[in-house]
Amino acid sequence: MSIDYKAEIERLKRELPVTVVGHYYQRDEVFEMADITGDSLELARKCKSDENPWVVFCGVGFMGQSVKVIAPEKRVLMPKIACCAMARMIDGSYFDDSVNYMVERGIPKENILPITYINSDASVKAKVGEMGGMVCTSSNAYKIIEKGLESGKKILFVPDRCLGQNFANSMGLKSCVIGAGECDPKEADVICFDGFCSVHQLFTLDDIEFYRNKFPGIKIAVHPECDPKIVDASDFAGSTSQLIKYVNDLDPEQKVAIGTEYNLVNRMRQGNTYVLSSTKPECPTMNETTLEDVYLTLKSIEDNRPINEIVVDPHTVKYANLALERMLAIK
Ligand code: 13P
Ligand code: SF4
Repeated sequence: MSIDYKAEIERLKRELPVTVVGHYYQRDEVFEMADITGDSLELARKCKSDENPWVVFCGVGFMGQSVKVIAPEKRVLMPKIACCAMARMIDGSYFDDSVNYMVERGIPKENILPITYINSDASVKAKVGEMGGMVCTSSNAYKIIEKGLESGKKILFVPDRCLGQNFANSMGLKSCVIGAGECDPKEADVICFDGFCSVHQLFTLDDIEFYRNKFPGIKIAVHPECDPKIVDASDFAGSTSQLIKYVNDLDPEQKVAIGTEYNLVNRMRQGNTYVLSSTKPECPTMNETTLEDVYLTLKSIEDNRPINEIVVDPHTVKYANLALERMLAIK
């Protein structure tokens, strides 16, 4: 007999002290099962104040890890421990290499303030926390960089070069990317690690030109993980929740093409909303989680044999928590 996953998930949620969390990029059928939804900043805040001892997190690895770091007493399970491809581009040793790059070019370590995008492993967040730095998301990067600059130090921004450069540009700051051409940390305010999101690299100037030619007057709205030349050519750049608000606030007759992950754009799609790509910009790892996975994870709590539990060692929790809490303290 086949299992009605939806009905079983609903039953397990009623019977267990568990909160199901879903990022906007999850498949629709998974997203609909979530008690808490949002972008990465909203999810971090909401999970911190949620009371249930169990969290089933439908998203990518760094997100579940972040809940464990800010609320270590919680038991955090992930239906799929799917890893964000960008987060995998940097680890502790690459982070140390980036600090050394700056030190070798005349910036003393104590004059470096690291900021890591939340799309990074807890071990990288811990290194950042130990150096007095902070985490940011695409919703609050402007404020966090602004706060970081108050220290008078050089900002080392990891791992997303696009996010770092886009926010530096919007703030009138100089940026450079380690390993990409000339990058003299003495000449730049924001020194970026050379990581990127392959999904957000799919959007091209040709896509923008295509839509502008097809629908004169169309608005182009993109995520700041897109390349700076795409952000520059767009009408709006914002985080997931900022994009949703931007589109909702438009006149319903206004056409808009959106450059971010497919599941989110598809959910927003009405007559005048388009996907800014000729290919389907799906995040492969976000798409790994299925209803069956959610069911099996909840069932494992009921059966007292939890699966895919996120474990972070105490040293990492301590310092990664410092970096995350410094972010959460900034309103
Ligand atoms: P948000 O911070 O907008 O949720 O983005 C997370 C992400 O992974 C974007 O690709
Ligand atoms: Fe990571 Fe890109 Fe997927 Fe976001 S869309 S989770 S940055 S791989």
